[in-house]
Amino acid sequence: MSEPTIPLANRPAWKALQTHATQIRATHLRQLFADDPHRGERFAIQAEGIFLDYSKNRITAETIALLTHLAEESRLRERTESMFTGQKINITENRAVLHVALRAPKTESIIVDGEDVVPEVHKVLDKMSTFSDRVRSGEWKGHTGKRIRNVVNIGIGGSDLGPVMAYEALKHYSQRDLTFRFVSNVDGTDFAEAVQDLKADETLFLVASKTFTTLETMTNAHTARDWTLAALGDESAIAKHFVAISTNAKEVARFGIDTENMFGFWDWVGGRYSMDSAIGLSTMIAIGPVNFHAMLAGFHAMDRHFRTAPLAENLPALLGLLTVWYTDFFDAQTVAILPYEQYLKRFPAYLQQLTMESNGKHVTLTGEHVGADTGPIYWGEPGTNGQHSFYQLIHQGTRLIPCDFIGFFKTLNPLGRHHDILTANVFAQAEALAFGKTAEEVKASGTPDELVPHKVFEGNRPSNTILADLLTPETLGKLIALYEHAVFTQGVIWNIDSFDQWGVELGKVLAQKIIGELESAEEPALDHDVSTSRLIRLYRSKK
Ligand code: F6P
Repeated sequence: MSEPTIPLANRPAWKALQTHATQIRATHLRQLFADDPHRGERFAIQAEGIFLDYSKNRITAETIALLTHLAEESRLRERTESMFTGQKINITENRAVLHVALRAPKTESIIVDGEDVVPEVHKVLDKMSTFSDRVRSGEWKGHTGKRIRNVVNIGIGGSDLGPVMAYEALKHYSQRDLTFRFVSNVDGTDFAEAVQDLKADETLFLVASKTFTTLETMTNAHTARDWTLAALGDESAIAKHFVAISTNAKEVARFGIDTENMFGFWDWVGGRYSMDSAIGLSTMIAIGPVNFHAMLAGFHAMDRHFRTAPLAENLPALLGLLTVWYTDFFDAQTVAILPYEQYLKRFPAYLQQLTMESNGKHVTLTGEHVGADTGPIYWGEPGTNGQHSFYQLIHQGTRLIPCDFIGFFKTLNPLGRHHDILTANVFAQAEALAFGKTAEEVKASGTPDELVPHKVFEGNRPSNTILADLLTPETLGKLIALYEHAVFTQGVIWNIDSFDQWGVELGKVLAQKIIGELESAEEPALDHDVSTSRLIRLYRSKK
C-alpha cells in the first residue's frame, strides 16, 4: 500500500489551510451569506437520494478547494482503491478492510489472499435468509415444539450497537409478532431484565461475537445457556435455542453450539463495520431478507458514490473533510449528531463506536505522533428532545460544536401536524445556530438593557443538514455508509489506522487480573497503585 510520506504539517494544502483558517475564523456566516446570494445552492449536493446542505459551514469555495487538495495530497483516492480492492490497509493487524464486500453484488469479484470473497459473502447471506424465513414463518421450532416468539441478541460493541440501532431504525418494517431484545452489558441486570417476561421454550438466542472470546458476551451467553437449561432441562435444547455468529468456529463448538447453527464472517470485517454481515442476523429476522437486501443495496450505492464521485461532490469525503476542518483549524472537540427521526434514536450511539473506535488514535501508520488533533467526540440525541436539554450550550456556550442535523421529507407515521412541526425545528435550529440574534435585534424587541447580553445569540455556529425522502432500509444503508466513508476520509488525512483498536486492550487485561482478586477466597496480595488496591479491599469487605 502506498503511504503518504509527507507529515501532515508539511503538506502544502495543510499549510495553506492554516493561513486560510485565520481569515475564515474572523468571518461571520451572516457575512458569507450576505456576500453570496447563491450560497444555499452552491454548497449543497444531492446524490443517491441523500441531500446535503453544507452551506451553513464556516467555509468558502476556497476552503473546499483546499480541503479537497488536502485529500488528494493525502492520497485519499489511492487509499480508497486499496480498501475496495482488498489490500491489507489495516496495517497493525495485517488485515484487509472489506466491509464494502459485504454489500457487493454477486456479479462483483474482490480478491483477498488469492480468493474471491464475494461468493462466500452471498453464501452466508443465503444461509441467513433461509434461517430468517424459517424463524419468521414459525417453521423453526423450539425444543418443546413451540414456535419462536422472542429473539435475544447477545453481543457487545459492534456485535450489539449495529443490531440494536438497525432494529430500532427499521422497527416499522419488522415482524411485530416477534419480540427482540439485546443484551450487551456484563451487568447481570441487562440479562435479567431482558428475559424476565420471556418463556425459554419460545426464545432464541443469537450469540454474536467476532472473536467468541469477549468476556461480556461469553458471560451473558453462559447465563443464557443456564437459564434455558433450567427451564427446558435438556442439553439437546441448546441446538434449537442457540445460534452463533462468529469468525471463530473452534470457540463456537467449545461453547456447545453446533457449527451447523453458526453464521460466519471474516477477519476483514471490523466489529464496528459488521452490522451488514451475519452480525445483522437479528436485523434480517426482524425485517426479512428482502428488506435486508434493500439495506445492502443502499450501502452499496453509497460505496459506489464514494469511490467514483469527484471529491467536491462526494458526500462522505465532504463530510469527513469538514470534520477535519473544525477539529484541526477551529479546535472543535466534538460533533453533535442530531437525527430528527425517532426511529434513529440509537444512531448517535452507533456512530460513537464507528467514529471514536476508528479515529481515536494518536500515532500515524508508521508510529509517529500525528501532530494534530484526531477523532472528535461524537454524541447526540434525537430532536426535538435534545433542544430541551443540551442545545442551550450549543447555542450560547463558549464551545464550537459542529452539528449534523438529519431529517426526512416524509414520515412513516403521518399524524396530524407532527411531521411539519418536527421538520420546522430542524430548519429553525440550523438557522438560529448560523445567524443568531444580535444585540441590536434583541434591543429592538424591547428587552431591558441588563438582559440584552443574556439574550444575544452570537451565531456563526456551523451545521450540516442531511435530508432524505423517507427512512427505508435502503436509506439507512446509505446513511451508515456515508458515515463509514467519512470516518475513512478523516483517517486517511490523519494517516492513522482507522481499523485497529489497541486502546481497548489494557483495561481488559487489568480487569481479568482484578476479577481474580475480587473473587479469590484468600486475601490476595495486591500490587496495584495504592488507590486501586484500596478500592479492591473495600469491595471485598463490603460485597
Ligand atoms: O473491545 C472492543 C471490541 O473488540 C470491538 O471492536 C468489538 O466490536 C467488540 O469488542 C466486540 O467484539 P466481539 O464481536 O469479538 O465480541
